[in-house]
Amino acid sequence: MQEMNNIPKLLELAAAARQNAHVPYSHFAVGAAIRSSDGRFYAGCNVENVSYPCGSCAETGAIAAMITGGSREIAEILILGAGKELISPCGACRQRIKEFSSPQTLVHLADAFGVRKTCTVAELLPFAFDEKDLAR
Ligand code: THU
Repeated sequence: MQEMNNIPKLLELAAAARQNAHVPYSHFAVGAAIRSSDGRFYAGCNVENVSYPCGSCAETGAIAAMITGGSREIAEILILGAGKELISPCGACRQRIKEFSSPQTLVHLADAFGVRKTCTVAELLPFAFDEKDLAR
Protein backbone atom coordinates (compact mmCIF):
# COMPACT_ATOMS: atom_id res chain seq x y z
CA MET A 1 0.00 0.00 0.00
CA GLN A 2 2.76 2.41 0.95
CA GLU A 3 4.46 1.80 -2.38
CA MET A 4 1.31 2.30 -4.45
CA ASN A 5 1.22 5.49 -6.43
CA ASN A 6 -1.63 7.41 -4.91
CA ILE A 7 -0.79 10.73 -6.54
CA PRO A 8 -3.46 10.56 -9.28
CA LYS A 9 -6.19 9.90 -6.75
CA LEU A 10 -4.93 12.57 -4.35
CA LEU A 11 -4.77 15.07 -7.23
CA GLU A 12 -8.30 14.24 -8.29
CA LEU A 13 -9.69 14.59 -4.77
CA ALA A 14 -7.83 17.83 -4.08
CA ALA A 15 -8.97 19.31 -7.41
CA ALA A 16 -12.59 18.39 -6.69
CA ALA A 17 -12.41 19.90 -3.21
CA ARG A 18 -10.72 23.01 -4.59
CA GLN A 19 -13.68 23.55 -6.92
CA ASN A 20 -15.83 24.09 -3.81
CA ALA A 21 -13.48 26.51 -2.05
CA HIS A 22 -15.22 29.56 -0.56
CA VAL A 23 -12.75 32.32 -1.40
CA PRO A 24 -14.60 35.61 -2.02
CA TYR A 25 -11.82 37.65 -0.36
CA SER A 26 -8.51 36.22 -1.56
CA HIS A 27 -9.84 34.51 -4.72
CA PHE A 28 -7.13 31.94 -4.03
CA ALA A 29 -8.73 28.51 -4.05
CA VAL A 30 -6.90 25.61 -2.41
CA GLY A 31 -7.72 21.92 -2.17
CA ALA A 32 -6.05 19.34 0.05
CA ALA A 33 -6.34 15.56 0.01
CA ILE A 34 -5.11 13.00 2.52
CA ARG A 35 -4.39 9.29 2.36
CA SER A 36 -4.49 8.07 5.93
CA SER A 37 -2.32 5.25 7.24
CA ASP A 38 -5.38 2.99 7.27
CA GLY A 39 -5.77 3.50 3.52
CA ARG A 40 -8.67 5.90 3.44
CA PHE A 41 -8.95 9.20 1.56
CA TYR A 42 -10.18 12.59 2.73
CA ALA A 43 -10.30 16.09 1.28
CA GLY A 44 -10.94 19.69 2.21
CA CYS A 45 -10.92 23.21 0.76
CA ASN A 46 -10.30 26.64 2.18
CA VAL A 47 -13.33 28.39 3.65
CA GLU A 48 -12.98 32.14 4.10
CA ASN A 49 -15.09 34.48 6.22
CA VAL A 50 -15.90 38.18 6.07
CA SER A 51 -14.23 38.30 9.47
CA TYR A 52 -10.91 37.31 7.89
CA PRO A 53 -9.25 35.49 10.82
CA CYS A 54 -12.25 33.14 11.01
CA GLY A 55 -11.29 31.57 7.67
CA SER A 56 -9.69 28.16 7.50
CA CYS A 57 -7.15 26.56 5.19
CA ALA A 58 -7.75 23.56 2.94
CA GLU A 59 -5.38 21.45 5.06
CA THR A 60 -7.44 22.24 8.15
CA GLY A 61 -10.59 21.06 6.39
CA ALA A 62 -8.97 17.85 5.16
CA ILE A 63 -7.62 17.05 8.62
CA ALA A 64 -11.03 17.71 10.17
CA ALA A 65 -12.61 15.36 7.62
CA MET A 66 -10.03 12.69 8.46
CA ILE A 67 -10.63 12.94 12.19
CA THR A 68 -14.39 12.96 11.67
CA GLY A 69 -14.04 9.87 9.48
CA GLY A 70 -12.24 8.00 12.23
CA SER A 71 -8.67 7.95 10.89
CA ARG A 72 -5.84 9.32 12.95
CA GLU A 73 -2.63 9.29 10.93
CA ILE A 74 -1.71 10.98 7.65
CA ALA A 75 0.40 8.78 5.36
CA GLU A 76 0.52 11.48 2.69
CA ILE A 77 -1.13 14.82 2.06
CA LEU A 78 -1.36 16.68 -1.22
CA ILE A 79 -2.01 20.42 -1.36
CA LEU A 80 -3.18 21.95 -4.63
CA GLY A 81 -3.12 25.64 -5.48
CA ALA A 82 -2.59 27.76 -8.55
CA GLY A 83 -0.31 30.63 -9.29
CA LYS A 84 3.27 31.38 -10.21
CA GLU A 85 4.68 30.36 -6.85
CA LEU A 86 4.67 26.86 -5.48
CA ILE A 87 2.00 26.58 -2.80
CA SER A 88 3.41 26.25 0.68
CA PRO A 89 1.40 25.40 3.80
CA CYS A 90 1.18 28.19 6.37
CA GLY A 91 2.91 27.81 9.72
CA ALA A 92 -0.28 26.92 11.59
CA CYS A 93 -1.13 24.19 9.07
CA ARG A 94 2.38 22.75 9.35
CA GLN A 95 1.74 22.30 13.05
CA ARG A 96 -1.72 20.83 12.39
CA ILE A 97 -0.31 18.37 9.85
CA LYS A 98 2.49 17.38 12.23
CA GLU A 99 0.02 16.51 14.98
CA PHE A 100 -1.34 13.64 12.87
CA SER A 101 1.83 12.57 11.06
CA SER A 102 5.06 10.69 11.46
CA PRO A 103 8.32 12.44 10.54
CA GLN A 104 8.29 10.40 7.30
CA THR A 105 4.77 11.44 6.26
CA LEU A 106 4.87 12.77 2.70
CA VAL A 107 3.72 16.27 1.78
CA HIS A 108 3.08 16.83 -1.95
CA LEU A 109 2.83 20.41 -3.21
CA ALA A 110 0.92 20.62 -6.47
CA ASP A 111 -0.49 22.95 -9.08
CA ALA A 112 -2.72 22.41 -12.10
CA PHE A 113 0.13 20.58 -13.84
CA GLY A 114 0.72 18.07 -11.05
CA VAL A 115 3.03 17.58 -8.10
CA ARG A 116 5.94 20.02 -8.19
CA LYS A 117 7.62 19.16 -4.92
CA THR A 118 7.45 16.42 -2.32
CA CYS A 119 8.97 16.62 1.12
CA THR A 120 8.53 14.96 4.50
CA VAL A 121 6.84 16.45 7.53
CA ALA A 122 10.23 16.55 9.26
CA GLU A 123 11.51 18.73 6.42
CA LEU A 124 8.37 20.88 6.38
CA LEU A 125 8.46 21.60 10.11
CA PRO A 126 11.85 21.04 11.68
CA PHE A 127 12.32 21.63 15.39
CA ALA A 128 8.56 21.35 15.96
CA PHE A 129 6.80 21.86 19.25
CA ASP A 130 5.49 18.45 20.35
CA GLU A 131 4.58 16.27 23.33
CA LYS A 132 8.13 16.16 24.63
CA ASP A 133 7.92 19.89 25.20
CA LEU A 134 4.98 19.35 27.55
CA ALA A 135 6.92 16.93 29.77
CA ARG A 136 7.31 18.14 33.34
N1 THU B 1 -4.46 28.73 2.04
C1 THU B 1 -4.72 27.39 2.17
O1 THU B 1 -5.88 26.97 2.23
N2 THU B 1 -3.67 26.55 2.26
C2 THU B 1 -2.36 26.91 2.11
O2 THU B 1 -1.47 26.05 2.18
C3 THU B 1 -2.01 28.33 1.89
C4 THU B 1 -3.13 29.29 2.01
C5 THU B 1 -5.61 29.65 1.91
C6 THU B 1 -5.92 30.54 3.07
C7 THU B 1 -6.70 31.66 2.38
O3 THU B 1 -8.05 31.25 2.24
C8 THU B 1 -6.08 31.74 1.00
O4 THU B 1 -5.39 30.51 0.80
C9 THU B 1 -5.12 32.90 0.81
O5 THU B 1 -4.18 32.93 1.84
